[in-house]
Amino acid sequence: MMERSDMRRIVEKITSLPTLPGIITRLTHMLENPNTTAAEVGKEIAKDQVLSAKVLKLVNSGFYGFSQPIMTVPHAMVLLGFNVVKTLVFTTSVLDMMSQSIAGLWEHSLACARTCGIIANRLDMPDPEEISVTGLLHDLGKVVLQQNLKDEFEEIVSLVRKKDMLFYEAENQVMGVTHANIGGWLLDKWQLPGQIVEPIAYHHTFHPVRPHADRTAVVHLADILVRAEGFGFGGDRKVPVVSPEALGLLQLSVEDIREIMDAMNDQLSDVMRM
Ligand SMILES: [Fe+2]
Ligand SMILES: [Fe+2]
Repeated sequence: MMERSDMRRIVEKITSLPTLPGIITRLTHMLENPNTTAAEVGKEIAKDQVLSAKVLKLVNSGFYGFSQPIMTVPHAMVLLGFNVVKTLVFTTSVLDMMSQSIAGLWEHSLACARTCGIIANRLDMPDPEEISVTGLLHDLGKVVLQQNLKDEFEEIVSLVRKKDMLFYEAENQVMGVTHANIGGWLLDKWQLPGQIVEPIAYHHTFHPVRPHADRTAVVHLADILVRAEGFGFGGDRKVPVVSPEALGLLQLSVEDIREIMDAMNDQLSDVMRM
């Protein structure tokens, strides 16, 4: 088995995905200057027409459950916040490949994003759009894996099928790391904020002491509810157990969960079940 550090090095090299054109370098420089405004960043993104078209397409894919279309990048900045737009800019090419990597993963991710929004709004958490985008990206590591570590991916998929395992358990067995680690490394390398990176890196290994445990608990729970309700396909057929500590932290009762699932059925009727 490959060493964890070798694995991380491979993943970090993946930033050469068709992803990061000059705009990212320019944006990174702009963001290092504390005087840069969101409007300036919005304008810079808007200059790159291909990139801004992709970002707007994602913004309008309905991951955050807003019904009005958003027509411009600066408008998206105002409505969704700077972190959401920045995150979409960095991840747009990986998200582009998502539907080709595992059939149903896009629907799973979209449903997870919307469920994160339902939970975040119910709990009155700040920045629900940011929590939704985290849900959209939570399984991003699976795309990276399928695209860049093909042999390992094949081995994991066949293990999942043969032994009816959870995807992340099979990953642990084959590689000693999971798509959660991989996604976290990549987003960390792109210097996305901790409140977005941490819930992705730990969505299968919730622990209440981490700084963003509340958001991690939301993504962890949303992922499992989406599987239980059969929206999309995340790579395996099993439904993991919800961490009691995550439920405890969010102070959600069985009755609350039932109501969240009802809201999912109402609000996600446009997302395919598999
Ligand atoms: Fe996952
Ligand atoms: Fe998932």
